[in-house]
Order: sequence, then C-alpha cells, then structure tokens
Amino acid sequence: MLISVEVNGEVVTWDVDPRETLVDAIRERARLTGTHVGCRSASCGACTLSLDGLTVKSCCLLAAEADGRTVRTVEDGRTPPEVDDIQEAFIAAQGMQCGYCTPGMVMSVRHLLAQNPDPSDDEIRRGLAGNLCRCTGYVNILKAVRAVRDARLGR
Ligand code: FES
Ligand code: FES
Repeated sequence: MLISVEVNGEVVTWDVDPRETLVDAIRERARLTGTHVGCRSASCGACTLSLDGLTVKSCCLLAAEADGRTVRTVEDGRTPPEVDDIQEAFIAAQGMQCGYCTPGMVMSVRHLLAQNPDPSDDEIRRGLAGNLCRCTGYVNILKAVRAVRDARLGR
C-alpha cells in the first residue's frame, strides 16, 4: 500500500507491505539507522521515535499507521556526526557504554525536556522508564539529563 509520511521535515511516499513495521521502514527505506531494533516487543525502547510529537516504540507500529503523520528520528535536524546538546551531554557524562540504547534514550529525553524543562530526578527516571540500558546502571544517564536541564536553564 502507498503511504505518505513526513520524516524529519521531508515528505516521502513509500509502497509498504501492510505487515511492515515503522522501525523497519525508517531504517531500511529512509536509511535512518539511528533508530535501533532490540526486542521487537515494546520492552526495550531502542526503537523510540517521535510520531506526531509523542514518543512511540516503532517496532510495535505498522508503517501504514504513520500514513499522513509526522515522524522525527534521532537524526532530525542534523547529519551525523553532528549532535545536539542532549547527545553532547551523554558523551560528556559517559551516559553510554555500548550505545545501543542511546538513540532511544535521546528521543525520550528530547520529549521529556520539551514537556518539562525542569524535571526532578524522579521525573527524569519516569521519563526514561520505557528505555532499558543493559550497560550503564543509569547513573551517568541521569547525570547527562541533569546537565542538559541545568545548561538550558542557565544554572
Ligand atoms: S525494539 Fe522496540 S521496544 Fe525494543
Ligand atoms: S549503553 Fe549499552 S544498552 Fe545502554
């Protein structure tokens, strides 16, 4: 079926299999491989992206469900290796080890700080509750989010 999706500001038309997942379309059709695939069961958050301004787990959505809608991925607005302040903070705080979870984490942090520019530690933890990390123990991820929050607020 033909679908039309705005991906990072560009409208694309794809002829998708009705069973095709959104994460597969983003990775394989748009070649935006910053969105990762982990569990394929809505558990890990590696595939997190923004759909019409809400974070979603794109492994559990069909590409067809994005028809006429707006998708933002971790690459939005920049060409790798360009990074935003959240990604810089993850690097500076060593908020990743293998990095597999990081793009999904970054998408959740973008959403969190857009909704709540001054989150408490508990609010940060809740904002990242859908994103699992097998490596870091989360301590440095929390440090990274605090650093971005404080820098944006001029603290
Ligand atoms: S790959 Fe989508 S939640 Fe794990
Ligand atoms: S840094 Fe390896 S899973 Fe998070």
